[in-house]
Amino acid sequence: MAYLPRTRLSTTSFISLFITTLLTSTLSLPEELFSLEIGTKIRSDKQSLMLVASDFGNLTKSTPAAVFYPSSSHDIAGLIHFSYTHSTPFFISPRGHGHSINGQASCSNGVVIHMELLGQGRADRINVSVANRYMDVAGEQLWIDVLSASHAHRLRANSWTDYLHLTVGGTLSVGGISGQTFQHGPQISNVLELDVITGTGQQVTCSKTHNQDLFNAVLGGLGQFGIITRARIPLSPTPEKVKWIWLIYTNIVAFTRDQESLISIDENERHFGFLKYLEGSLLMEQGIIGSWRSSSFFSKNDMQRMAQLTAKHRLTALYYLEVVVAYDENIVAEVDQVILLFH
Ligand SMILES: Cc1cc2nc3c(=O)[nH]c(=O)nc-3n(C[C@H](O)[C@H](O)[C@H](O)COP(=O)(O)OP(=O)(O)OC[C@H]3O[C@@H](n4cnc5c(N)ncnc54)[C@H](O)[C@@H]3O)c2cc1C
Ligand SMILES: *[C@@H]1O[C@H](CO)[C@@H](O)[C@H](O)[C@H]1NC(C)=O
Ligand SMILES: *[C@@H]1O[C@H](CO)[C@@H](O)[C@H](O)[C@H]1NC(C)=O
Repeated sequence: MAYLPRTRLSTTSFISLFITTLLTSTLSLPEELFSLEIGTKIRSDKQSLMLVASDFGNLTKSTPAAVFYPSSSHDIAGLIHFSYTHSTPFFISPRGHGHSINGQASCSNGVVIHMELLGQGRADRINVSVANRYMDVAGEQLWIDVLSASHAHRLRANSWTDYLHLTVGGTLSVGGISGQTFQHGPQISNVLELDVITGTGQQVTCSKTHNQDLFNAVLGGLGQFGIITRARIPLSPTPEKVKWIWLIYTNIVAFTRDQESLISIDENERHFGFLKYLEGSLLMEQGIIGSWRSSSFFSKNDMQRMAQLTAKHRLTALYYLEVVVAYDENIVAEVDQVILLFH
């Protein structure tokens, strides 16, 4: 607009601009909301709305009426209860780190809850119980911070995602998979207890044995059955040492056969316990994702060998199994045997 001569901005266009702004922001929310204490935590300025209108995928755009910045789970319960009991209820959607790719955390014309603000600058959002071997984690925490907190006690969760800049509530709403899933199940199979705010605005604690319907619905429930404010995650000791191995294949049949045989090793066989991680992927020479040229794992020599392999077999991609094997000083010899078995 800046290049337009000022006179071109007539009074009528001013009024219509004003009305459009109103229509796309606060007008769809009940007035009384703004006289409550939680009302002061609602923003509907363009910048706040734009920040949550899209997500990592950048495929969809869906502008909410407002963004809610809670300072406690009590605030969230208050907002939901207000909408639930009002004659014109509105849509509410929790947003974690916004790493969905198709607008799952957005909410056209409703209220998006900015979960991450809950944890900002607070030290009481992750509590590790060494004695009980579990940790209590607030829903907005990033897995990367969960990892550092438990690792300080030489403990770790059993099931992860590859990428750790995702919130606990966000991945427990979808599943959460990585190289431990074949052994421990997805992240949603590794939760002892949840605190959830339900659609009526109640704060409820649930587990496999207590309010189990809610527990089962919320895990993998895409935020449709309640908002996760706390998760209790079981912990195991971190292995003393691990070997990180990449097995490179030119042949997809050999690749899938080995992968299937590794995940089906009998749990009672001794070396099953050593295998801690298994993932299979494509490895491209060029490209943003999965290119061996962008991996810190490979030496220059490795890269040359891989380039030779692709040239020889006329391939544009290689297949690889990424394997992690745990061991300690007493069993190094045995671990080496196991690695031979894998080849
Ligand atoms: C670069 C990248 C790497 C990824 N890597 C993996 C991976 O290795 N393994 C894997 O399994 N997934 C992976 N994902 C997918 C990721 O797990 C999901 O997109 C996850 O939902 C993102 O978490 P988030 O905190 O960004 O949630 P958001 O995108 O903000 O929200 C996701 C959904 O959960 C809901 N939600 C958010 N917070 C809560 C809460 N506290 N309570 C209830 N519902 C809530 C939202 O309403 C929405 O429906 C990856 C995604 C990206 C972009
Ligand atoms: C997201 O998409 C919009 C158009 O829909 C574009 O203007 C913007 O640059 C994109 N953002 C990113 C980070 O790719
Ligand atoms: C951690 O412990 C403190 C003190 O008991 C408590 O106030 C807080 O809610 C706990 N945090 C979580 C995520 O359980």
